Amino acid sequence: MQLVQPSAPLATIAEIARFDGQTVTVRGWLYNLRESGKLLFPIFRDGSGLIQGVAHKSGVSAEVFEAMKGLTQESSVEVIGRVRADQRAVGGFELDVEQITVLQRVPESDPYPITPKEHGVEFLMEHRHLWVRSTRQAAILRIRAEIMRAAQEYFDSNGFTRTDPPILTPAACEGTSTLFPVDYFGEEAFLTQSGQLYIEATALALGKVYSFGPTFRAEKSKTRRHLTEFWMIEPEVAFCDLDGLMELAENFIAHIAQSVLARRAADLTAIGRDPEKLRAIQAPFPRLSYDEAAAMLQQAYKDGLVEQPFEYGNDFGSPDETWLSSQFDRPVMVHRYPADVKAFYMQPDPANDKYALCVDVLAPEGYGEIIGGSQRVDSYDLLKRRIEAHNLPIEAFQWYLDLRRYGSVPHSGFGMGIERVVAWLCGLDHVRETIPFARTLNRIFP
Ligand code: 4AD
Ligand code: MG
Repeated sequence: MQLVQPSAPLATIAEIARFDGQTVTVRGWLYNLRESGKLLFPIFRDGSGLIQGVAHKSGVSAEVFEAMKGLTQESSVEVIGRVRADQRAVGGFELDVEQITVLQRVPESDPYPITPKEHGVEFLMEHRHLWVRSTRQAAILRIRAEIMRAAQEYFDSNGFTRTDPPILTPAACEGTSTLFPVDYFGEEAFLTQSGQLYIEATALALGKVYSFGPTFRAEKSKTRRHLTEFWMIEPEVAFCDLDGLMELAENFIAHIAQSVLARRAADLTAIGRDPEKLRAIQAPFPRLSYDEAAAMLQQAYKDGLVEQPFEYGNDFGSPDETWLSSQFDRPVMVHRYPADVKAFYMQPDPANDKYALCVDVLAPEGYGEIIGGSQRVDSYDLLKRRIEAHNLPIEAFQWYLDLRRYGSVPHSGFGMGIERVVAWLCGLDHVRETIPFARTLNRIFP
């Protein structure tokens, strides 16, 4: 196949308004075709949007009419036509087709497997490489891209330097049970589950840093929130305490939500998400201590609002987070969990060292945890004791201990999972649709 210089200027469907009244070339695929006697109504998609074409048998050459008549779904095409504003059309414009070149016609004998009829989720996941072409999935991916762009923009324009931690690592960060081992030239290494330990080092070099990349968790959880491979963005800030971290988290999330609202409202509407839900996502966010949240859960159980009793001292389970987060119209920040249920690197609360100076941000509407973070232990002795108490290999952490040996300072950071945020902002009930190719407990295909 060869691309030839089109005889009319190229236009994307997203920008078609600029070409009203003009003849343009649109390159894309046939999304759908309605035939009504001498009239054909093909709908084209080009990745940026949909536009309906119109062709009357008497208005085009016999060749063009025949090429389009009976054209199969997802055939690739180059269409030349005149853009005409039409209030009733999807997107406000129609294309009066003049010419069409079919680049590849999908054979009738082997039709595109995803039809407008309903398909089961398993079938769609099995055909994910094609499913991403649907308007809904494409809209979700554009919103995902905007979330990632806005997240980076927030840090880039607030004095942070992006530093990329390694993906192949010699040791655990969030505990050993969920690591994917890799054979590293005869030695055991692991895929990273968080860049945190490494960006603590770069934070002490550069002050304010962030990392952004894929992370891996061999979690045997089959929930709507868990992927085995997901994208995490993590800031780490020197001379920052828990209060400073919570302020950063709320401003960061508000910026992302407002950017999606400002730039992707049409996509939100297209997937059935009311953009107005995002307008309330403004700082400050409500803050609850773990004790306050636990008391709320216990009361809710007494009132028959939740099914499971909450046992004080435990970490919150998904149903607990779901209920807590559905009590607010914006994310809620739960801070100071019992140190025992949290990671070894969290700084104890000076007011009561049974608690850790940590925060989880729970998204509203029952979406649960989107951010986990903390102030970090800054004392060499305490960190060493913690590593030993958690039975972690001390040799592997010598470099990490160095950060407390040479110019230690209070510092804090968090990690935010992109897919959880996509699910929440898009109002999806499962993270599998939030990433182009989801990796879950029982899926590594396609
Ligand atoms: O709470 P987590 O485990 O925190 C850390 O990894 C810290 N080291 C981050 C830091 O302080 N720099 O994970 C952070 C976030 C969660 O809040 C969630 O949004 C996401 O990562 N996440 C997952 N997303 C999808 N699937 C999974 N299996 C996830 N596990 C965590
Ligand atoms: Mg967490």
